[in-house]
Amino acid sequence: MLTSRMLVRCGAENALKNVTIIAPSQSVKVKQGCVGHLHLAPARPTLCSATVRNYAATKQEVDEHVRKYKEGNFDKIPDPERLEHFKTHEALKTASSATVATAAGKAKVTGSTTDVTNDSPPPVGTHALPHPIWSKDELDNVVVTHKPPSGVVDKMAFYSVKLMRKSFDLLTLFDFGERTERKWVLRICFLETVAGVPGMVAAMTRHLTSLRRLERDHGWIHTLLEEAENERMHLMTALQLRQPTRLFRGCVIGAQGIFVTFFSFAYMLSPRFCHRFVGYLEEEAVITYTKCIKDIKDGPMKHWQTQEAPDLAIRYWKLDENATMLDVILAIRADEAHHRVVNHTLASLKEDDYNPYKPGK
Ligand SMILES: [Fe+2]
Ligand SMILES: [Fe+2]
Repeated sequence: MLTSRMLVRCGAENALKNVTIIAPSQSVKVKQGCVGHLHLAPARPTLCSATVRNYAATKQEVDEHVRKYKEGNFDKIPDPERLEHFKTHEALKTASSATVATAAGKAKVTGSTTDVTNDSPPPVGTHALPHPIWSKDELDNVVVTHKPPSGVVDKMAFYSVKLMRKSFDLLTLFDFGERTERKWVLRICFLETVAGVPGMVAAMTRHLTSLRRLERDHGWIHTLLEEAENERMHLMTALQLRQPTRLFRGCVIGAQGIFVTFFSFAYMLSPRFCHRFVGYLEEEAVITYTKCIKDIKDGPMKHWQTQEAPDLAIRYWKLDENATMLDVILAIRADEAHHRVVNHTLASLKEDDYNPYKPGK
C-alpha cells in the first residue's frame, strides 16, 4: 500500500498531484521531484489506472502526519535535534549546567553524558577501571622477590629485562650523583610510559584473536586492560609533579615506537615470553620503588614524607585526605608487586586456561 511515509521518503510531497500508477507492474512513477519507482502492495488491482491523489495523502495530510509523528514517537524515527550525539558543541555547553564547578576549578560529574564539556572536564581518573585498593598492611609488607627463570624462554625474558635495566640506568646516569626529585620524577614518568604498553598490546592481541577465531578469551582481557590503565595512572600521577620538556617527549615517542613494535611481534610469537618478561620488569619496578621509599624515609627525598599527595592520587587509590607523596609511592609499589605476581602467573598458564583474577582483583 502506498503510504504518506513512502512518499515523504522520496521527497515527493510537492509532486503528489503528478503521480500516476503504471500497470501492470504495480509501481508508481513520479513525474516530478522523485527518481525511480515505489512498489505497491500486490493485492490492490483497483489502483491501476487510477490517480494516486485518490488513494494517497495530500501535501497538507503528509505535513500533518509528519508533525504528529515527530511529536509522538522518536523511538522509531529519531529526530537528530533531539539526540545527544547530534547536538552541537553550543547545545552541549548549555546542557552542561548540571555540572558543578568546585572552588578549586574542578568539576563534579552529575551523571548524564551531556553534563561534561571540554570547558568543565571531570577530574583525571573519573572513568578509571576497577583496581585493587591496598590496606595499610598490604602497603607496608611488599617485599622484593625473584622468580628464578626455568627454561630457555624464561631466561631470555630475564636477561632481556636485566639488559634493558642496566642500559637505562647507565644512559640516564641514575646511579651517579644524588637522586634528586627531578631525577626521580623524570625516571618514573619515562618508565611508566613504557610500562603501560604490554597490557594494552596483550589485551588487543587476545581480543583480535578471539574475534578472528570465533572463540572466547577465557577472561584475560580485562586484567590486561586494568594493568595498562593502572600504569598510565602512575604516569598521570607523576605528571602532577613535573611537566616534561620537548626533548623528553621526543624520547617517549621514540621509545614507544620501538617498544610497541617489539612487544606486538613478541606477543604474537610467544605470549609466555611476554608475560614472563613483564613479570621480571615488575620485579625491577618493585626494586626501583623500594629504593625510592628508602630515599624518602632516609635519603635525599625526605620532603616527600610531608609533601601533599596530588588530588588525583588520593581519588584513584582512595587515600586519606592528608596523604603524602610517601603514601602515593607505597601504593604504586603495591600495584607493581601485583603486576609482578599476575604476569608470572599468566606466563605459567596455557593460553586457553582461565584467568584466575576477577575484575579489579
Ligand atoms: Fe607502574
Ligand atoms: Fe607495573
